[in-house]
Amino acid sequence: MHPLSFDVSRYELQQVTVAGESYVVRAFEGIAYVSKPIDLSYQILNFYVPEAYFQGGEINGFTAKTAPIFFPNYIGGYMPAKPGTARPALQGPNAGKESTIAVALSKGFVVASAGARGRSLKDAQGAFSGKAPAAIVDLKAAVRYLRQNDAVMPGDAEKIISNGTSAGGAFSALLGASGNAPDYRPYLAALGAAEQRDDIFAVSAYCPIINLENADAAYEWQFGGVNDYRKIEVGMLDFNMVRKEVAGTLNAEQMALSAQLKPVFSTYLNSLQLRSTQGQLLTLDADGNGSFKDWVKHYVMKSAQVALNAGQDMHQYNWLTVHAGAVQDLNYDAFVRYSGRLKLPPAFDALDLSNGENDLFGTSLRGAQHFTAFAAQHSLVPDAGLADTKVIQMMDPMHYIGAPDARTAGLWRVRHGTLDRDTSLAIPTVLATTLQNKGYNVDFALPWDVPHSGDYDLDALFQWARTVAMEKTEH
Ligand code: DHB
Repeated sequence: MHPLSFDVSRYELQQVTVAGESYVVRAFEGIAYVSKPIDLSYQILNFYVPEAYFQGGEINGFTAKTAPIFFPNYIGGYMPAKPGTARPALQGPNAGKESTIAVALSKGFVVASAGARGRSLKDAQGAFSGKAPAAIVDLKAAVRYLRQNDAVMPGDAEKIISNGTSAGGAFSALLGASGNAPDYRPYLAALGAAEQRDDIFAVSAYCPIINLENADAAYEWQFGGVNDYRKIEVGMLDFNMVRKEVAGTLNAEQMALSAQLKPVFSTYLNSLQLRSTQGQLLTLDADGNGSFKDWVKHYVMKSAQVALNAGQDMHQYNWLTVHAGAVQDLNYDAFVRYSGRLKLPPAFDALDLSNGENDLFGTSLRGAQHFTAFAAQHSLVPDAGLADTKVIQMMDPMHYIGAPDARTAGLWRVRHGTLDRDTSLAIPTVLATTLQNKGYNVDFALPWDVPHSGDYDLDALFQWARTVAMEKTEH
């Protein structure tokens, strides 16, 4: 048998329970998705199919042939990630809850979840084997495997819908933005990935930690002037962990860095020439004020309105003006102080190379490097390296959206809670607005008071996924 052939007979039956109802599924677990793997603990995928599809059944309007393939990754903090399972998590914030995969199956989706290498991984010789761009190469290889075997695997490989949170949300977005981009081909070839397309149909991303080259400035655009912080321990970057926060106040040097970085964001934002859905040019002045700030604020107000409509008591937010059932205004700076600073400047490219992002951009021999010119210039580490420009681009969905040699997914759903301070609200807003401006279909919202997390609105997520998939089936 060809090493990348799907073996239809290698499964076990599993029972999943969702909302008190039981479903039987065929679980094909631990499938190697490349023929020359580097680490078979991670370069494997789990594939789940509702048993009903093998009996000619229909679920939620889908059949074995038409069902979309939900493609969740479980990457957190850029660490190595195992493929997801249909079982409830044993630990972390979602312990005991039914899994996202089980919910997807109950709604008629076929599920493929790929593991991926991550920043801490080492090979037998002790060299790092999961630094950038390893994880995105792995996810692309898994997509290629699904296409290679589309004729024998239930589900439609032309309707792959990726999902992920935080670092995993970043990879979900990157997978969607960079379909078929030639930059990744040598890496895919080295792993013996299937010779297939790797573009996908749709993206779901929760709080994607993206645009790392501009994220430090974006963070200070939002939090500049907020000097008190509650910082997370670096070992707790991953949204899957219960986090411990340590309170403090920026020192004079950190305040100076913040003041230097903040106006850099206005320059970047203005260079994008983004427009609102009404066609207004979105800009910022050197103080960070302007139509782009109003645009972010309008998304926060929209979120407050949704919460109000759902019956939430909004009186506690004294910086919100509500009249006759309508959110009329929001004091943006008071809202920012309420949400609070979580990271110290520079928020991502740490001057002492101590952040997870520094570690992501290491090489096989070097643990961590810088990835912005600013941090490299201000580095506290003698001879600190700067990551390769190409590799930095290969980790950034912004670089590929609508690029002539990439096929960007047409359908996007992006969520970032208003209480999520792991990156600036400007980052998902720039992503969504760029996609909109380039003609992609985006469902973007900032759910009210939701902290750094994902998969918290599964009914709405799968409703969206079903709607976009049905439209494709009918056309
Ligand atoms: C994650 C969180 C972060 O704050 C970050 O900078 C990178 C990744 C995460 O939860 O995956």
